[in-house]
Amino acid sequence: MAKKSRAPNAPIASTDSSDQKPESSAKHDIRPGQSLELLKELHILTRDGKLNQDSRRKLKQVYHLFQFIEPLLAEIHTKQGSVTLVDHGAGKSYLGFILYDLYFKALRDRSHIFGIETRAELVEKSEELAARLGFDGMSFVNLSVAESITSDRLPETVDIVTALHACNTATDDAIHFALQKKAKSIVVVPCCQAEVASVLRKNKGHSLSKNVLTEMWRHPLHTREFGSQITNVLRCLQLESHGYQVSVTELVGWEHSMKNELIIAQFKDLPRGKPAQRLSDVLETLGLEEMRERFFTT
Ligand SMILES: C[S@@+](CC[C@H](N)C(=O)[O-])C[C@H]1O[C@@H](n2cnc3c(N)ncnc32)[C@H](O)[C@@H]1O
Repeated sequence: MAKKSRAPNAPIASTDSSDQKPESSAKHDIRPGQSLELLKELHILTRDGKLNQDSRRKLKQVYHLFQFIEPLLAEIHTKQGSVTLVDHGAGKSYLGFILYDLYFKALRDRSHIFGIETRAELVEKSEELAARLGFDGMSFVNLSVAESITSDRLPETVDIVTALHACNTATDDAIHFALQKKAKSIVVVPCCQAEVASVLRKNKGHSLSKNVLTEMWRHPLHTREFGSQITNVLRCLQLESHGYQVSVTELVGWEHSMKNELIIAQFKDLPRGKPAQRLSDVLETLGLEEMRERFFTT
């Protein structure tokens, strides 16, 4: 089997054994040129430049995710000379800041990161931090994901859309945003989505008499789990039905989170008919017809 090589400027990953150390020097975990001030602001580094167990893990997770996003950024940047990324449900904009520091900072062009977040205080803090660090190519917008779809504060088209643990249906809104903005790549790590489970629950009685497979979600715990699983299946079919090539993998290293499914979609203009039909069939088979608008195909 071929040995997996490290990306040229990938960090030297900390080993699991080093994770056991309560606090230690950060020199093996930080890349050359990386802003120590940013890492301190994000509480990844302590004020005296050390990493504790939790922050080393967080850094490792962010690097792991960066390994998936960097080639997408590079491919687009090589083709068009700049790249625009929108991060939905940005929170403290951990991901945006790290992406900016590791990739965008060195570009002296129109490349830009937008963070979308409903909590005004987080948007304000991110704006202050970006100004202090001189990260001019970052903007933060205090809107819901749904509002951002039609907002004139965002460009007409964007290249990459990310949504990391954006709550409930915010991931679906992020997908909607990405489709509307003709994103070339979409990277989402969904959070719990309660909407599909609630429809499964509502229609369970009727469904049980018609379809033996309803046993898969008869018990309340199974309704929630199956609802969550099928939501991601529907998201993948939806993306495929819009011409994207989709891969689903695990966000390894995201140990603190139960939700670690990473969905990466790249627009390849693939044939759309079959996935659209499959999506429709799955909705019908599971009694989820009322979800057609959520998982729209055309
Ligand atoms: C679990 S946090 C994840 C934050 C960040 N993406 C991360 O992984 O560190 C989810 C964030 O999404 C925001 N959020 C939830 N629903 C949203 C919506 N509909 N539109 C925009 N932001 C939303 C929340 O305020 C919160 O900051």
